[in-house]
Amino acid sequence: MRHWNALGEAPIPGTGRSLTLHADKDNFYIRISGGGELMNSRKHASEDALGRLPCQRLRRTDSARVLIGGLGMGFTLAAALQEVGSNAQVTVVELIPEVVEWNRGPLGECSGRPLDDPRTRIHIGDVAKLLNAGKTSYDVIALDVDNGPEGFTSATNDWLYSLPGITTAQQALRPGGLLAYWSAGPDRVFPGRLRKCGLDVEEVVVHAHGNKGARHYIWLAGRGDR
Ligand SMILES: C[S@@+](CC[C@H](N)C(=O)[O-])C[C@H]1O[C@@H](n2cnc3c(N)ncnc32)[C@H](O)[C@@H]1O
Repeated sequence: MRHWNALGEAPIPGTGRSLTLHADKDNFYIRISGGGELMNSRKHASEDALGRLPCQRLRRTDSARVLIGGLGMGFTLAAALQEVGSNAQVTVVELIPEVVEWNRGPLGECSGRPLDDPRTRIHIGDVAKLLNAGKTSYDVIALDVDNGPEGFTSATNDWLYSLPGITTAQQALRPGGLLAYWSAGPDRVFPGRLRKCGLDVEEVVVHAHGNKGARHYIWLAGRGDR
């Protein structure tokens, strides 16, 4: 039987459900009421890869503009910051204000406090709304807001994985930019949908922890003229 402390609870807007933060003596856990574990701080190799891989594929990273949705435990943000230069900006969009507060507290230790990095910008809100506003363009847009194309946290996130959602994200890319999507498991439809939008797709499978554990999927998608 696991002995953990409940450290916080936050409603997930529009769902009637909530996220909870727990810790035992070694790890932090974010869970969804009625839905199980969303993440834990021990297994983050694929979250790291989501931030690292698209930034490594950019031609220039010194002044890169990166958008990450959402924050979670901050591993994707921390990995992107490691790859980009001192003039870069990495904007992290998080729907739930309490998740940002948790990362400013003890939870922030597990990813090395990337919110404190001067290149980090925090936007509290829905990443779909930010993309739809169409105001800014990015070299990388990395999305891990849910379980993947098959939603888990919020059905409204489905739009991000739809043809209109992909097209909107694509329009927010700078020339040579890349979209990156995380998924808990394989998806037979989603890579084809990215290709339908005229994108070249690379599928990367990453174990949750070292070379063990669940196999998570990352799709990197960009135009062939990159
Ligand atoms: C699985 S976690 C992200 C994990 C993250 N990659 C990491 O490295 O820790 C998903 C996060 O996305 C947030 N989220 C869910 N839907 C969102 C949305 N539409 N816009 C912005 N953030 C969202 C959740 O609150 C949660 O913090």
